[in-house]
This record gives sequence, C-alpha cells and structure tokens, in this order.
Amino acid sequence: MPPTSSHAHAPSSAWRSGASAPHAASTAVIGLQWGDEGKGKVVDLIAPKFDAVVRYNGGANAGHSVVVGGVRFALHLVPSGILYPDKLAVIANGVVVDPESLLREYDGLTDKGVSMKGLVVSSRAHVVMPYHKAEDELREQLLASDDGESIGTTKRGIGPCYADKAHRATAIRISDLLAPALLRARLDTICKVKSVMLGSAGSSLDPAHLAAWATHLGERLRPHVHDTTYLLHDMLSSGKRLLFEGANAALLDVDHGTHPFVTSSSCTTLGIPAGTGVPGSRIGEVIGVVKAYTSRVGNGPMPTELLDDLGQRIRERGREFGTTTGRPRRVGWIDLVAVKYAAMISGATSIALTLLDVLSGLDEIRACVAYSSADSPAHTDRFSPDSEAMRAFRPVYHTLPGFTEDITCVRSRAALPKNAKSYIEFIEQYIGVPVRLIGVGPDRIQTIVDGFAS
Ligand code: GDP
Ligand code: IMO
Ligand code: MG
Repeated sequence: MPPTSSHAHAPSSAWRSGASAPHAASTAVIGLQWGDEGKGKVVDLIAPKFDAVVRYNGGANAGHSVVVGGVRFALHLVPSGILYPDKLAVIANGVVVDPESLLREYDGLTDKGVSMKGLVVSSRAHVVMPYHKAEDELREQLLASDDGESIGTTKRGIGPCYADKAHRATAIRISDLLAPALLRARLDTICKVKSVMLGSAGSSLDPAHLAAWATHLGERLRPHVHDTTYLLHDMLSSGKRLLFEGANAALLDVDHGTHPFVTSSSCTTLGIPAGTGVPGSRIGEVIGVVKAYTSRVGNGPMPTELLDDLGQRIRERGREFGTTTGRPRRVGWIDLVAVKYAAMISGATSIALTLLDVLSGLDEIRACVAYSSADSPAHTDRFSPDSEAMRAFRPVYHTLPGFTEDITCVRSRAALPKNAKSYIEFIEQYIGVPVRLIGVGPDRIQTIVDGFAS
C-alpha cells in the first residue's frame, strides 16, 4: 500500500466529538433533470444543519453556483459546503478528480477568503490525467465527423477516466500521487498501453513528465487526503449528519438516463453507496431539485425543448449559460414525465423547485404530462432511458395561467401570486412529492423554505 494519510491522522476532533446517535439520518440533494437545477444553491442553503457535505460522483464536469450577498462562487469539484468554515467538504471515492482543476479551484476560493481547512479528498478517488482530457476531445471530434453526433461532453476527461477505473490496471488513484516510485512505474506501463491503444494520439505521452506533474500536485493535496469511508462512518457513529451533494443529474445517469447522451457516473441516490461506502439505509431525506422549466447542455433528446423566441427569453432571464463550459443551455417547458421518473429512481422525499422567478411575465405556463408518438395512438406517461425511444416522443402539455408579478422578494409560499401557487400545486400532485423549498432568485436568501424534516 502506498503511504497515504489514513483517517486516523485526519483532524479527528472535528467529527469524533458530539452526542452519540448511531443512526442519525443523512440527506441527499439530487438533480431530477439534465443538470443545473440549482443543486449548489440548495446544498449551500441547508448545509448549516449538517457536519459534512459529501460529493460522491462526477468530477469537474459539474458546475455548482452559489451566490452569497451578491458574490458568486462557481464550484466544480469542491463540495458546496466549503463556504462554512466549520463543515467538512468531502470528495469521496466515487468522484474523478482532476488535481490541477481542484487546486485551481482551491486557490480561487482561498483568494476569495474561503477557508479550505475542511476539504477532505479520498485516497481512493480516481485521477483525471491530461491524456483523459485529450481522449475525451478526440472521441468527441471523431463522433462528430462524417455528420455523426457527438455526446457534447464538457471535455473534462470524465468518460475516459471512469473507463480506466473500469479497466483497472491503467487507472491512477489519489493515493498513487503520494507514492512517487510506484506512480512512475504505473505510468511507464500506462503510457506503453496507451501508445498502442491510441496510436499516434498516445505515442507522445511522457511518463517522466506526467509523473513529475502528478507528484507535484499530489504533494499539495497530501494534507487533505484520507480514507473517507472510515471518516464518514466514524462521523455517523458519533451522531454527525452528512449531506450528500449530487453532481450532474438523474437524466444524465449512466444507467438510468438518456443513454448514450449521459455522463459516466451514477448521479442519483443510487450512486451514494458505491461512491462513498455509506449504505443507502443511512440516507433519510432525499431532496430532488427541479428547475421550474427544463434546461439541458450537450446533445440528446429533450422533448419539451423550445427553439423559438420564448426559449430565447427564458434562456436570457434564467442566465442559462453553462457554469463549466459557458455553452448556452437548451431550454424548454418542465417535463413532468421525466421528473416523476427521476423522483422515483432517486427516492425523492421532497422537491426543491428552483428558478420559479424566471417564469414571471409569461401569459401561460406549460407542463408536459405525457408523451405521444407517431408509432402509437396511445399517450404514455412513462419515460424511456433510451435516446432513440425518447426521440420519437412528442410532449403532451397541460397549460396553466401564468403570473406577472416579480417574486424575487417573496419569502413565504402563501405570499406568492395565486397562479404561481397553482403551478406548484400542480407539480406536487403530478409527482406525488411535496415541494418544500422554492427558489425565487440566485442568492442564498432568495428562497422560500416550507419545512424540511429537522
Ligand atoms: P447546479 O449545477 O444544479 O448546482 O446548478 P448551476 O449552479 O449550474 O445552475 C443554476 C443557476 O441558476 C446558477 O446560475 C444559480 O445561481 C441560479 N439559480 C439557482 N437558483 C435560482 C433561483 O431560484 N432563481 C434564479 N433566478 N436563479 C437561480
Ligand atoms: P451539474 O452538476 C449539465 C452533460 C454534458 C454532456 C454529458 C456528458 O452542474 O448539474 P461529460 O463531460 O460528463 O462526459 O458530458 O453530460 N453534463 C452536464 N450538464 N450540468 C452538469 O453538471 C453536467 N455534467 C455533465 O453537457 O451532455
Ligand atoms: Mg451546474
């Protein structure tokens, strides 16, 4: 075993003290659409109730914006709990970590006065190497050539890194960055394998250079590296509460999303046990985050997409440009068939409905309640985790009256305009899960909280 720090060397007093409540419930925040639902804002808002915020999937493909007092923080790998100095912000084993990107984020947050003391990185998280990003880019180019369709990835090397995780012998984990001799030997082998597998694209890989690069970054990360599985279980044993922060979202899930236009990890609650070592039975509340309309970045089916002026208007009002890549997001009406499916596989116990303020000023609001298709006269209210099947679906809408009032200063559900309330009730009834949090603006304070279990 390489000499990594173990949980025994971690700043244990931060989580070992406190009342013992062995089965304290933990909470998960999961995106129920195609990403960018406002998970970062929700996590930041409720983090004070927890002792650690834990990322379990994805990597720097995520972009979670948190706005506090007008200051915007864009988080990619660092959990959104980092803004509270007394919380641990844990990057668990299921995350793929680009060390350069993580340290860039680390330095940016430090420059903004954020303490990084609470950051913990799993020794078993896999490392996104420069060649993973090059392969991601190359694969996308090849898929798009000859009129083909690429996935539209973020080009952050996510797919190739998870592929190496599955290939095993060509994978590098955070612990390897802390053991230079072993790392160098592994990179010699990896570069040999890749030069054969990738041909000219892999022939220029230089193991000595890569090893020096990775060792340097590993040394900077060393104080933060721990066995996060024991760390999280120790916290649970001493009655501490964990908040799991989903990245990407249910409809981008590698198994349950619109395959192949998905990301490469398990993005729902189902990914938490494998991505952290904490069994699902430890998770109590699951907050499903749902944007009041739909957005999607990248390619793939999106039945409710609006390609007209209305779509443009929603994109501008919602500032729908990617936090990670800056790409304009595709937008459309809320797709309740898709959200209900996502709530089902995620086990959502409550809904956080975000960006409701963006819909203000529309005469009417539509919600997709079923799909029709040319192949069948019957409508279906079942989502299909298969892109070809989804492409054939046309949305069947229920139309509700819109609202014109500016709701960005409203702080109680009762004070919302009547038609906004009716829209929320319609969503609750369709999904069968209560809306307990409503976003009326990007700032932490622009939120209506309607009672979460304590
Ligand atoms: P995430 O990836 O799910 O964390 O979401 P992103 O941060 O990528 O995208 C959500 C965007 O909406 C960010 O720019 C947030 O600042 C913003 N946002 C979040 N909640 C609200 C809200 O209730 N109203 C408005 N207008 N913006 C919001
Ligand atoms: P957050 O956590 C929106 C999308 C990409 C692409 C597909 C695969 O901010 O909600 P990848 O780089 O993961 O191989 O790209 O998944 N995607 C996201 N879209 N928000 C995200 O994260 C995303 N993470 C991945 O746009 O379509
Ligand atoms: Mg995002």
